[in-house]
Amino acid sequence: MHKRIIETHVVVLQHDELTNEEIHLIEKAREQIFKAYAPYSKFAVGAAVLLENGEVFAGSNQENSAYPSGLCAERVAMFYANAQYPNVSVKKLAITAYTNGNFTEEPITPCGSCRQVLLETENRFEKNITVYLDGKTNVYRLDNVNQLLPLSFGKNSLNNSDI
Ligand code: THU
Repeated sequence: MHKRIIETHVVVLQHDELTNEEIHLIEKAREQIFKAYAPYSKFAVGAAVLLENGEVFAGSNQENSAYPSGLCAERVAMFYANAQYPNVSVKKLAITAYTNGNFTEEPITPCGSCRQVLLETENRFEKNITVYLDGKTNVYRLDNVNQLLPLSFGKNSLNNSDI
């Protein structure tokens, strides 16, 4: 028996360390906060996706009285982008959250279902997606979705399968 250590790398940035492209994407995610439909949680989330062709698609969380029928901001933005450009890879994704009249001090991190969807997109285009988790104090940068979802189940797990 032995232990295997799996590391996740997160780069913690201050806002003044971001490039203009990064600032623009985070701004697009922040704009979405005010379009969120979150009457139940009162927790608004915004996400913005930058495609390889330079286009940005953004979305917010959309809740439902039947709670599981709602959808997180990341998936709204990602599915929106992939539905418009099914053959264009995703370069960057920014996520931000707002509650009690303020953007959260520290970044929020995507739920498990969103991580799985982000991984699918990364695998689909065979291109790393840089993820920015925006907080008022710090921004976390992850250089690919694997950093969010180690030990994942992906399409490679299905290869050569037969029953
Ligand atoms: N939510 C997101 O949109 N993204 C996340 O990364 C975490 C949670 C939403 C789902 C729900 O509408 C609200 O935030 C509270 O969980």
